[in-house]
Amino acid sequence: MTVKVGVVLAAGLGKRMNSKRHKVVHEICGKAMIAHVVDELQAAGVDQLFVVVGSLEDQVRAVLGERVQFIRQEQQLGTGHAVLQAVPKLPEDSVTVVLNGDSPLIRRQEIQRLLSVAAERKATAVLTAMVENPFAYGRVIRDGQGAVRRIVEEKDASAEERLINEINGGVFAFRTSDLVAALCKLTPDNAQGELLLTDCVAHMRADSQLVWPVPVEDPNDLAGVNDRVQLADVEARMKIRILREHMKRGVTVVDPASTYVQADVSIGRDTVLWPGTSLEGQTVIGEDCVIGPHARLVDVLAGAGVAVQSSLVMDSRLGDGASVGPYAYIRPGSDIGAGAKIGNFVEIKNSIVGEGTKVSHLSYIGDSEIGSRVNIGCGVVTVNYDGYQKNKTVVGNDSFVGSSVNLIAPVHVGSEAYIATGSTITDEVPDGAFAIARERQTTKPEYAIRLRMKLKERIRQGLK
Ligand code: UD1
Ligand code: MG
Repeated sequence: MTVKVGVVLAAGLGKRMNSKRHKVVHEICGKAMIAHVVDELQAAGVDQLFVVVGSLEDQVRAVLGERVQFIRQEQQLGTGHAVLQAVPKLPEDSVTVVLNGDSPLIRRQEIQRLLSVAAERKATAVLTAMVENPFAYGRVIRDGQGAVRRIVEEKDASAEERLINEINGGVFAFRTSDLVAALCKLTPDNAQGELLLTDCVAHMRADSQLVWPVPVEDPNDLAGVNDRVQLADVEARMKIRILREHMKRGVTVVDPASTYVQADVSIGRDTVLWPGTSLEGQTVIGEDCVIGPHARLVDVLAGAGVAVQSSLVMDSRLGDGASVGPYAYIRPGSDIGAGAKIGNFVEIKNSIVGEGTKVSHLSYIGDSEIGSRVNIGCGVVTVNYDGYQKNKTVVGNDSFVGSSVNLIAPVHVGSEAYIATGSTITDEVPDGAFAIARERQTTKPEYAIRLRMKLKERIRQGLK
C-alpha cells in the first residue's frame, strides 16, 4: 500500500477575518476550524500528517498539540510555497493530500473518494463543486475529456472564466513525485505575486499528467472561511449537519432551528432535546434523557434518564435519573447522584450531592458533600466563604435539613441527623442527633392592635 500523507495549510494569517486570532483557530460549533480538518483527514486514513504554520503559529500549535507534525513557512509567499516547505518531509513513493486549514466542512468520505479516484487513475485528483456564487474561489477549467486543464484564481480570471461555476475546493491528492516536480516550476507571475498551488495543475498538464476533478456530493462541503460572514455561514451548515447526525442515531430534536449541539458532544438514543437547548464542549448525554426547553450544558457528563429544564449546568456530572431545574445553576466541579433532585432557584457549586437527595427550592450549596437520601429544605444556605477562604460543609446520609437553615462552614452534620428549620448551625451535629439553633418565639396577646394605634398616633402628631 502506498503511504498517504496529509499536508494542511495554515500559515496565512487570514487578513480578511480582521482578527487578533489566527483564522484557523476560530471555532465552528465549538471546535477550532483546523481541528475539524485534521480530524477528518485522520479519519480518512492518512498515515502521516503535517501542518504548515507561520503567522501566529503558537495559536495553531496550542490547538493541535502533539497530534501532528508542524512545518514552518517563514514568509507567506503563497499556497504553493507553503506546500514546498513540506517537500523535504514527504516520503518518495507516497500520495500527498493537500488541503486548506480554513475549510472545516470537509468530510472524510470525500477525502476517501478523492484518494480512490487518484489511485484508479494513477494521477492527481482535486475536489470540486458546482456552486451558484463562485466568487473568490479558484475556477476549474476542464478540457474536452473532462480532465482539469488549469485552475484560475479570481484575480487572474478573465470575465469569461469568472462565469465558470465549478470551483476548486483546495483539496488535492497528488502523487508526491509529480507534486514535487510541479512545485519546482511555480513562478509568482500572477495577480497576487505568489507561488500558487493551483498553478501546479497547468504545469502537470504540460508534462502530460492529467488532473481529474472529483465533484463532491454536497457543494457546501468545500466552503472556505475567509471572513466572518463565511464563518457564520459555515457555522450554520455545521450546526445542521451535527443535528442530523444525532437524529439519525436516534435522538429527537424537537426544534432544530433553536437547538445547538457542538461538534464533540455525544447523545444517547431516545433522548429528547426541547427548544432552546445548547449542548457544548465535551458533553456526554445518556439515553432517555429530556433536555430543555432552555437548557445549557457545558462539559457535562449526564447518565441515562436525566431531565434538565431551563437551567445552566457547567463542568459537572449528573447521575442516572437525576432531575435539574427549572431555573437551577450547577457550577463546575459538582457531582449530582442518581435520582437526585435539584429544583428551582437552586445553585450548586463544587459539591457532591448523593443519590436520591433532594434540594428542591431556593438553596445555595457550595463546597459541600451531601450524602444520599438527604432532604435539604427550602432556602438552605451553606455559608462557605468567610471573606478569606472557602470552607467545607458535610451532611451525612439520610439526614433532614429544615428550611432556611444556615450551615456555617466548616461544619459537619452526621448521618440520620435532623436540623430544625431556621437554625444557624455552627457546631458539629453527630449521627442521629437533633439540632436546633434559633431564638424562642415571644407572643404578646393583642399587642398588634395597640402597636398600630401607637404608630397612627405618631403620624397624626407629625412625629417620626
Ligand atoms: C484557495 C485557493 C482557491 C480555492 C480556495 C478554496 C490557491 C492559490 N487558491 O484560495 O483556488 O478555491 O482556497 O477555499 O490555493 N496559506 C499558507 N501559506 C501561504 C498562503 C496561504 O499556509 O503563504 C494557507 C492559509 O492559511 C489557508 C490556505 O492556505 O489556510 C488557503 O489560503 P487562502 O488565502 O484562504 O486562499 P483562498 O483565497 O481561500
Ligand atoms: Mg481560503
